[in-house]
Amino acid sequence: MENKRGLWTSNYGFLMAAVGSAVGLGNIWGFPYKMGANGGFAFLLVYLVLIIFVGFIVMLGELALGRKTGKGAVGTYVALSKKFKWIGWMGLLSAFLIMSFYSVLGGYCIKYMFVNIGNLFGGHAGTGADIFTALITNQGASILFTFVFMLITCVIVMGGISGGIEKFSAVAMPVLFVMLIVVIIRSLTLDGAVEGLKFMFVPNFAPFKENFLGVLSTAGGQMFFSLSLGMGCMITYGSYLSKKESLEKNAIIIPIADTIVAILAGLAVIPAAYALGGTDAALAGPKLLFITLQNVFDAMGAIGPFFGFLFYLLVIIAAVTSAISLVEVIATFFLDRAEAKGRKGNRKTITIIASVGIMILASIVAADGLGATGMWQPLGFCWLEFMDLWSEGIMMPIGALLMSLFIGYELGIDKFGEEIEIGGNKFKSKSFFSLCIKIIVPIAMLFILLGQLQSFGIINIL
Ligand code: TRP
Repeated sequence: MENKRGLWTSNYGFLMAAVGSAVGLGNIWGFPYKMGANGGFAFLLVYLVLIIFVGFIVMLGELALGRKTGKGAVGTYVALSKKFKWIGWMGLLSAFLIMSFYSVLGGYCIKYMFVNIGNLFGGHAGTGADIFTALITNQGASILFTFVFMLITCVIVMGGISGGIEKFSAVAMPVLFVMLIVVIIRSLTLDGAVEGLKFMFVPNFAPFKENFLGVLSTAGGQMFFSLSLGMGCMITYGSYLSKKESLEKNAIIIPIADTIVAILAGLAVIPAAYALGGTDAALAGPKLLFITLQNVFDAMGAIGPFFGFLFYLLVIIAAVTSAISLVEVIATFFLDRAEAKGRKGNRKTITIIASVGIMILASIVAADGLGATGMWQPLGFCWLEFMDLWSEGIMMPIGALLMSLFIGYELGIDKFGEEIEIGGNKFKSKSFFSLCIKIIVPIAMLFILLGQLQSFGIINIL
């Protein structure tokens, strides 16, 4: 009989959920800038090569392990290997840590959506910098918007795999795409947009000559976060995929879709930031999203707040479809554990408890306001950076490194391949996969780990 845990109802639904997980804040505020600052079109080529040799491989690895065991991040490793069991626990912990700041940023976007609605009806909320400073230093408001974001996320995950996540993503992702196109048209038709296009796309080999390793590890780290790899998200989503579907096909489509959206996000934000953001416009991170772009919408005149509203709504959708995948990692863990004990876990209760746990952790990050409120900060990092350091900087690269060693040397390629070949599918990339998972991915992951530590200022060797 079919899997009792529930399944995606169609491959399309699965794809929208998985692409939804991948497409998030990382695409919008990380990729366009990193591409521009690290060689433009040349960076894109490096990024694509990394996707083929590392991204596709780890994606296929995670999806297949999850579907093989029919379990989430922790359950999968518990079922397969005593030695590697704790990779799953790192993944679970990463889900809490990433959500602790992702939900705060999602909450800020909700605030900005309302700011633009207010402006649309004749209000004027001040410059991007004014609004942002007021928001991050207002602890009550920051926590409140974080909770609103979590509430939306929680309700969708409570609905289950097909009834909640798939239903939402199947509609939200196409809508997001259309909204993105509308914003791109506005952005590209502004006077001065061409400079932004040049920043993003003109090939520039200078960064390659100066610091090729730095460019490589930047591209690798970005790819990893953007594809939701390294902490069991794709293991979890794979565990709900029907045995009929081709894993190889899905592992190719998800990275391609994610990269296309990242480039489109660049077309939406960078030309506009160049055209209207002013000379000191920040092109990356929270400042891009919450200061530069708000100023851009202000400078567009009467119609500006409409595009502002559309844009922040689009970012909220992208963030929600990513957040649900992270919360699902936690929900699936508890559901699997109940099942292992012979009970049927209650998804609704579990999701609420997981969300409350995240809200508690996120309250610290929200109250800290990127370090603006003068709270005590660990190791000199603001709380957001601290949570990001442990998850994205340390545990995720280690998790993916160990996963590749596990598949390559403990489980073995033949055993792994059985899952790919189920239902008459051929493992077309078998020898390529074998080479990559045994040698290329471990080296790349080690390297990405070092690059991450360097970017957090922990080491200085690359
Ligand atoms: N990929 C998402 C983004 O680009 C974030 C995300 C969702 C994520 N799930 C993840 C990152 C799992 C790492 C691991 O914003």
